[in-house]
Order: sequence, then C-alpha cells, then structure tokens
Amino acid sequence: MKRLILYEEVSLMKEIGFYQDRFVDINEKVVPIQERGHQFGDGIYEVIRVYNGELFTFDEHIDRLQMSAEAIDLEIPYSHEKIHSIVTEGLELSGIKEAEVYIQITRGIFNRQHHYPDGPAVFSMTIRHARKIEATARDKGIDTVVLDDERWLNCYIKSINLLPNVMAKQAAVKAGCTEAILHRDGIVTEGSSSNVFIVKKGILYTHPATKRILNGITRQKVIELANQQGIYVEEIQFDLHMLLEADEVFMTSTSMEVMPVKKIDNIEFTGEREITNKLISEFQKLLS
Ligand code: PDD
Repeated sequence: MKRLILYEEVSLMKEIGFYQDRFVDINEKVVPIQERGHQFGDGIYEVIRVYNGELFTFDEHIDRLQMSAEAIDLEIPYSHEKIHSIVTEGLELSGIKEAEVYIQITRGIFNRQHHYPDGPAVFSMTIRHARKIEATARDKGIDTVVLDDERWLNCYIKSINLLPNVMAKQAAVKAGCTEAILHRDGIVTEGSSSNVFIVKKGILYTHPATKRILNGITRQKVIELANQQGIYVEEIQFDLHMLLEADEVFMTSTSMEVMPVKKIDNIEFTGEREITNKLISEFQKLLS
C-alpha cells in the first residue's frame, strides 16, 4: 500500500513553466525571437528553493529581485503578493515538494534597439526538481579551481547575463572540479554561482557585500547563524594567499547550501572542519 502511494505521488509530479500570464509545459517553446532576454540578456532573475513544499526565504529573494530591477530601471510586472500566488499555484500544479523555482524578468518583446523600449516587462518562471546533494558530497567537500574574475563591475545585480559565470564553471568542470573561486587582482570575490567563506584562527571571513559580488541569501543566513553561534565574522576583502592558508573554506548558494571545499587547485584542505560543520548543522535546522 505504502509503495502504491509513493508511486502515485511521483507520477503526479511534473516540471512546469510560466510565461507571460500562463502556465506552460516545461518543454513548450514560448520565448519569441524578439524577446530582449533572448536578444540582449536584458533581464534579471532569482532562484528560490522549496523544501518539503515550503518556500525558503521567499521574501528575501523577491526583495533582492526588486533591488536588481531598480538597478536596471526595470519595472516588475507583478506585485510581491502576485508573484507569491503564481509560485504557490505553480508548486501545487507541479506537485514537486523538493523544488527549485527560477524567476526571470526580461525587458519585454520589441523590435531590436539597444536602449530601453517603453513597454511591459515579461515575467517567466520554471519549477523543477531540486538537484540532490548527496550526503557524501558534503562530507567529502568539493574540488575547486582559482580563476580570474572576468565579470563586469555590477555583480550585485542578479543579471541573466551569465556568460562569464558559465565560462568559469566550464573551466572548473573541464578541470574535473565542481566550482571556480574567482579573484580580482588577487582579492577573492566569490564563486561562479556561489559565495566564498574562509575560516582562519576561529574567525569567519567573506568578501563584503559591495558591487563586486552577489550578496547571496545563503551568505546572509550563514552570517546570521555565525553571529548567533558567537562566531566572529569579518566581512572584509582577503587575498589568494589568505585563501590558500585558510584553516577551512566553504561555499554557499541556494542550490549547494553550505558546502565545504576540499581542494583548491592542487592544495588539499585536510584539517578539521569545526566551524563549517557547525554552520552546516545550524543551516540544516532552518530547513526542517
Ligand atoms: N547562484 N554568487 C553568484 C554569482 C551566484 O550566482 C549565486 C547564486 C550566489 C549565491 O546566492 P544565493 O545564496 O542567494 O543563492 C552567489 C545560483 C542561484 C545557485 O547556484 O543557486
């Protein structure tokens, strides 16, 4: 009986999309050729995790979406509440309980011109199964490569223009690694799709939330948790030397949560992960 229920639940789940006021099949071809997201990468996005059917840090993500929109003079076509109701309806339709919700706002559909057109932006969304993080991956930690941060100077905007991030991730994968750690003139900024933290002598360091990084929602939660645990946090710039001399290194993102780093280029981190493990377990408590 139990097996039958499980089978039914799985068979009812389906990944779905939403484009311009309607739910669509995830594979439906809905983006018009003149869409500025497609033509220019002119848009912004957010990724929100759903745990056991519950949206995690929804308000924080929508507030950041609003901040990104304001930074590029884009008007989000729906209110915060309306976005919440679309996402909730989508989650019900999809039946997926462990989901990743991607929301994108692009500057609409117009004849090609570089400057901003007058007219409505386009809201789109996908709801997919969350990528599973194996428990062993978190025990082992990930391998990383150090690369030049070749992105633009407004990385605080969550822009859909991800080509430099894609190239950095590709270089990491090509090197047999999971993530790239980026630096600008020797100053460690963040990962290709995550934030970077190091621990040295019991102090947690991470790049300050300037225009040079995306101020991750996971990053902010981890800083909050560290403060609650009496772990001293320094949001200051640190260099590659300090990175490689660190006692512990970890990365954070919506999809990776808190992930220890095992290797940076050829350097292995073999020490105890006292603070990383503490923060992993505190973060897990937020999710249950
Ligand atoms: N990555 N920095 C960059 C460049 C990112 O793309 C992301 C998110 C982060 C972490 O932000 P947050 O904790 O809010 O997810 C930092 C995507 C969304 C991801 O892989 O989850």
